[in-house]
Amino acid sequence: MATPAFNPLTISNIRPLTGNAEDGVALTFDVPEPLKAQYQFIPGQYLTLRAQINGEDIRRSYSICSHHSEEPLEVGIKCVEGGQFSNFAKTLNAGDQLQVMTPEGRFTAAIGGKHSYLLIAAGSGITPCLSIAKSVLTDEPDSHIALLYGNHNTDSIMFREDVDNLKNRFTERFMLAHILTAEKQDAAISNGRIDTEKLNQLSEYGLIDAASYDAIYLCGPQAMTEQCTEALLSLGANKERIKFELFTTADSPVTQQQTKRSRSKEKTIGTPVTLVIDGAERTIQVDGDNETVLAAGLKAGLDLPFSCAGGMCCTCRCKVASGDTEMDLNFSLADWEVEAGYTLACQTRPKSNDVVLDFDAT
Ligand code: FES
Repeated sequence: MATPAFNPLTISNIRPLTGNAEDGVALTFDVPEPLKAQYQFIPGQYLTLRAQINGEDIRRSYSICSHHSEEPLEVGIKCVEGGQFSNFAKTLNAGDQLQVMTPEGRFTAAIGGKHSYLLIAAGSGITPCLSIAKSVLTDEPDSHIALLYGNHNTDSIMFREDVDNLKNRFTERFMLAHILTAEKQDAAISNGRIDTEKLNQLSEYGLIDAASYDAIYLCGPQAMTEQCTEALLSLGANKERIKFELFTTADSPVTQQQTKRSRSKEKTIGTPVTLVIDGAERTIQVDGDNETVLAAGLKAGLDLPFSCAGGMCCTCRCKVASGDTEMDLNFSLADWEVEAGYTLACQTRPKSNDVVLDFDAT
């Protein structure tokens, strides 16, 4: 796995996500020819954007919404109340440059063959699902997709035109259901939340068939993805075929991250942790009661790969080459990776004095 790298990319286009530009924007980037290979992506992946905002180095990850090969690189940025990056994004113009990390993420669909997909998205969770839907419908001519898309009301539907255009273009192979919480639609089944009851209703009506899908993608708030996963499993879905991606809701710097750990009030002496990255070794001191390896590494001036800082994106994945460690949270590593010794630097604390974390391990 290549270490993610930032490059300056120029914004070639900006468009509003909904009818109201205040809701957020989609940014399209120009990728210069020499960087094209590095920015090839698999549908469902995201980009981490980085900028100096009010003197602070801020980075956030946003999913790519484009077709994987036929469209320019575009991400959707939903405006979050008080969000540093999302509000800054609204002030950008075509021609501006941002530091953009090479594509990352495992919420992906490898295109090819004939498949049946169920996509369930709430709000901005549509962004990676849109890239998957565009790419699958165009490049897998025998595949089918059912998309359940939950929103507050019609005006708040992100990428509404894009999604409806897909519906018009691929009528036979694309079942689209807008589920709205705050606006009554003619079909009662389209009203309300995407939850256990809704999935059961859709199943009873024969609009979804959980056991039949080759792949199921869930993207939205944690409560929704957990509830839908349970409901789909009870409806016969294969657990191995369910992928989920949580919203990155934390809009705070890594140094302010909160964890469920109790903090020691006593001053602790740092534990030495050696980091291997791009073939070089550097030993830092980590005060495991008060900081993660990532936070300590950044404090020490190291340019470590990270994005969400919340255990969700996997950008900070590395391998425990020696020593004992523990993770606070893990929403992204698979069981086999944890068993194989991989960890998330943004959630890792040393438990012994001989910890070596290898960011170069594949
Ligand atoms: S930075 Fe996202 S999981 Fe660590």
